[in-house]
Amino acid sequence: PMAKELFGLNELGEKIRRAYNLQKVVVVPGDCDSSPLTKRDLGSAGAKALLGVMNQEDTVAVTGGSTLAAVAGELNPQGSVPMKNSWFVPARGGLGESMEFQANTIASTMAKRVGAQYRLLHVPDLLSDDAYQSLVQDRNIQEIVQVIRQCRIIVHGIGDAMEMTRRRNLDAAAAQEIEKEGAVAESFGYYFNEKGEVVHRMITLGLRLEDIMRTEIVIGIAGGKDKANAIHSVLKFGHENILVTDEAAASEICRQI
Ligand code: G3H
Repeated sequence: PMAKELFGLNELGEKIRRAYNLQKVVVVPGDCDSSPLTKRDLGSAGAKALLGVMNQEDTVAVTGGSTLAAVAGELNPQGSVPMKNSWFVPARGGLGESMEFQANTIASTMAKRVGAQYRLLHVPDLLSDDAYQSLVQDRNIQEIVQVIRQCRIIVHGIGDAMEMTRRRNLDAAAAQEIEKEGAVAESFGYYFNEKGEVVHRMITLGLRLEDIMRTEIVIGIAGGKDKANAIHSVLKFGHENILVTDEAAASEICRQI
């Protein structure tokens, strides 16, 4: 890209960074909704942002999704700190993703790529209240959930709320309820409205809102024009430290601030 374009991207990033008091915003050129290359760039910028903040003996909680899968695919340990005493864990349990996009799969792929350790959380998709109550009593589950809740870094994707209700196979009644609540974004199994307030949560195990709020470094990675409102909503929620996005989403967010 030409220097002028890069300057434009930096300006977009800086405007968002200042508006939401973030530590860092990275904007890659293009729109990942229409370009697989942009999605890969987003993954690669996300991987770089993560490696840039990792220490030895860290714990990183990751969510699922195609964007996080792109990050995992681009994670390349060259020149970074030794990782053999670091852990990758899924942020939350089964949220109804296909295998390749599950947080468990992404945590194990990331760990293998950088020579770190991983632990998985085996929770069925779409838990009932009863099933949840018995799973939280389980010793092994309790132990891994403790590890997850003490992570220092969270890396997460952001989805459009209604698209995520479809992808997660929620029934029509549940999807309608979420729509009525005004949800525009979904992340970690939580649904957020336009103001960045949590309006709905999926019953599953792992990170709770209070854990997300107190985690030292939260890295959101999402792009595409269609996701701009969703990303903006999660920025308003106000607990991101680093945002990695693309030009299409960043331009749209900047128009709103
Ligand atoms: O919660 C949000 C989704 O995991 C985002 O998924 O990266 O495939 O759009 P995506």
